[in-house]
Amino acid sequence: MNNAQPKSFFFAPENAVEAKKIIVKYPEGKQASAMLPLLDLAQRQHGGWLPRAAIVHVAEILDVPAIKAFEVASFYTMFNLEPVGKYLIQLCRTTPCWLKGGEDIARTCETRLGIKAGGTTPDGLFTIKEVECLGACVNAPVMQINDDYYEDLTPDSVMKILDDLAAGRQPKAGSQTGRCGSCACGKNGEGGEC
Ligand code: FES
Repeated sequence: MNNAQPKSFFFAPENAVEAKKIIVKYPEGKQASAMLPLLDLAQRQHGGWLPRAAIVHVAEILDVPAIKAFEVASFYTMFNLEPVGKYLIQLCRTTPCWLKGGEDIARTCETRLGIKAGGTTPDGLFTIKEVECLGACVNAPVMQINDDYYEDLTPDSVMKILDDLAAGRQPKAGSQTGRCGSCACGKNGEGGEC
């Protein structure tokens, strides 16, 4: 995987337009508040990770010291400062997910992919990352893959999701037990109905 830091970074024309649209949403003098969405835009343009040049570019656009942008980029786990695989798996390790079997979910991912948390498969397809609460505790255990949440996981459903992705199929996001949203589960833990 190429983790070389590019010498420069600029938004592509369509993203430069998008960046301007984001900035004008904020009051005059408060443009620095656009830091998070601009870093996100830069990361998406750069294949899922933020090189140093992109962070500096965002700081320049917002007219803030580069260190401010580095502080933000290094604080939030949604920003990746190194290359990640095509599928970034974020495993929730906070208490509700842990109580509902999050450890088994993590071990299943690691065993299926042959890597530990923090690692990337040699084919560049998968990266595993451990994160704090993903904000979907009621559907624990939960993992996020790219922009999608997968909820009410079991080791079997995790295997199926990973098999699908490896085969180029898009698995269904959301509850894996068929639960509607966050409705209360049935007594055997199966999907509650809205
Ligand atoms: S604890 Fe896992 S989503 Fe909140």
